[in-house]
Amino acid sequence: MPDFDIMKAQLLAFAEEDPGFVPLLSNASALIWESMEGLNWAGFYVVTGGRLVLGPFQGKTACIHIEKGKGVCGTAWASDETQLVPDVHKFPGHIACDSASNSEIVVPLHSGGEVCAVLDIDSPLFDRFSAEDRAGLEAFARALEEAIVWKF
Ligand code: SME
Repeated sequence: MPDFDIMKAQLLAFAEEDPGFVPLLSNASALIWESMEGLNWAGFYVVTGGRLVLGPFQGKTACIHIEKGKGVCGTAWASDETQLVPDVHKFPGHIACDSASNSEIVVPLHSGGEVCAVLDIDSPLFDRFSAEDRAGLEAFARALEEAIVWKF
């Protein structure tokens, strides 16, 4: 079980040096990648020009654009709710960037009360993400929202 409090403290230390979204989301994805076992992708999509655009991440190359309401990420954006998906093959419209992915969690991030990005994490394991992971990642997302400045 990752220590989400330590991850948050590390995140805030990075934000103190530079809260710009490129360095902070880059290090946030690396922190998640290093702290959680059994992942094959961890990163961000940022709302840009009315759709989600690929942001900083760790893992294999990924799809670049996702429309609102499409896939797990677009559903998290449209519903403004975390999507915890134990088996992506049972999620209607799941977008398979990597055929190795079997479970996924997507947490929306906000700016000015609106969803402005999503945190997306994939695993080759089925049912990889627990309720504790969800709570820890949502708390991590809240800390990120408070610290981040949405400019480079
Ligand atoms: N599976 C996601 C697409 C993004 S990749 O997992 C990196 C989705 O269905 O939205």
